[in-house]
Amino acid sequence: MPLKKKTSAMELQDLNFDQDKLDRLCNRLQPLLTKHLSDKELEDSSPQSPPPPPPNRHHARQRPNARFFREYLNGQWCDQPPVPTKPFTDQTIIVTGANTGMGLEAARHFVRLDAAKVIVAVRSLAKGQEAVDDITASIKRPGVAEAWELDLAGYASVEAFARRANALPRLDVVVANAGVFMYHFERAEGNESTVTVNVVSHMLLALLALPKLRETAVATGKPSTFTFTGSFTHWGTPFEERKEADILAALNDEGKAKMGEERYMVSKMIQLLTARQFAEELNKSSKQGKVITSVINPGFVKTQIMRHSSAMFQLYVKALAAVLSQPPEVGGRMLVLAAEGDETMHGQYLCDGKIAQPSEWVISEESKPVQEQLWRELTAKLEDIHPGIMGVL
Ligand SMILES: NC(=O)c1ccc[n+]([C@@H]2O[C@H](COP(=O)([O-])OP(=O)(O)OC[C@H]3O[C@@H](n4cnc5c(N)ncnc54)[C@H](OP(=O)(O)O)[C@@H]3O)[C@@H](O)[C@H]2O)c1
Repeated sequence: MPLKKKTSAMELQDLNFDQDKLDRLCNRLQPLLTKHLSDKELEDSSPQSPPPPPPNRHHARQRPNARFFREYLNGQWCDQPPVPTKPFTDQTIIVTGANTGMGLEAARHFVRLDAAKVIVAVRSLAKGQEAVDDITASIKRPGVAEAWELDLAGYASVEAFARRANALPRLDVVVANAGVFMYHFERAEGNESTVTVNVVSHMLLALLALPKLRETAVATGKPSTFTFTGSFTHWGTPFEERKEADILAALNDEGKAKMGEERYMVSKMIQLLTARQFAEELNKSSKQGKVITSVINPGFVKTQIMRHSSAMFQLYVKALAAVLSQPPEVGGRMLVLAAEGDETMHGQYLCDGKIAQPSEWVISEESKPVQEQLWRELTAKLEDIHPGIMGVL
């Protein structure tokens, strides 16, 4: 019997879809979902197999195991995140990449949930206005959503956007959601563009927005939030560049760059590690005003994210998406749930609106020096872009 979407765990039992069958399905789907991994690396991860060895000293790639796929399928078919209901009354919220996909749907939820101002941050104001009109037509709260220009491929645009944000009376939530999945090596601000957009610019925005987020937290007596949209794909990268003396510089070597899935996964790995370090740095700070930061894994969501990939790969993803993906509205829920300001979510990786576990390599002792090195490299770059920026921490 084919699996239905939105099937509850109870219904799965009614379908006689027991744990063994789920594990066998996980094993069948594994090669489909990880075609970039070689057969050698994809050992059988059925529950009958011996437990996987501890993360290898020389491999960051976390072989997606039965736990990964159980959680993945659970998210896709069983435990959809609830529709958010907590009001955001009086709050000012920024959502980057909000003209389409999950960002648009998150912005729509925020407007529905009584936010005072929802800033749809977009690189094309025309697309942004279309998104605002679309939200207003569906939620009937004119004047709440507004489009602001933000091009994460240019640092001057991020700085201009942040200056505007810092002039707001308050800023409660930033959802750093925009992202690219580049198939070809392109530079933006001298760096490979996936890294610039997915990692550097959003951390630049995080630091530049921090004073206003803190000021708002002090004024409201409630923590502000800055959430990054990450990805479960961080599990899949061997992240070979981590062995380099300068990781960010190595990612700029066009001759060695592995674009496509590999570069996207690396960008999401770096985003996760640097966001975890950002959370630690916030913990160390004695400045007033609590800011909660987290990384959301929305799972597989049917959006335009693959638009730069080859026609063949888009076809492949489309076929997978028909069976496995969630609609953008469901992805948008996860962004909103993370923005609610639950203090236990600080520094955490979230799935389905709940605290989850990133790859075992990420939580291993081995990732710690890599995380610290990346933080040093990224903050040095940010200081070059905006001298004095690290003083905000
Ligand atoms: N879809 C999935 O299965 C999935 C899974 C895990 C994580 N994610 C992450 O979810 C986030 C949202 O992606 P999505 O799936 O909703 O894809 P999407 O529909 O392609 O949305 C991506 C958004 O990012 C914006 N963007 C791209 N480059 C930008 C730039 N230089 N400056 C400003 N905005 C820029 C896009 O604007 P334009 O329309 O102007 O290009 C668009 O609004 C991304 O971070 C993605 O990596 C997605």
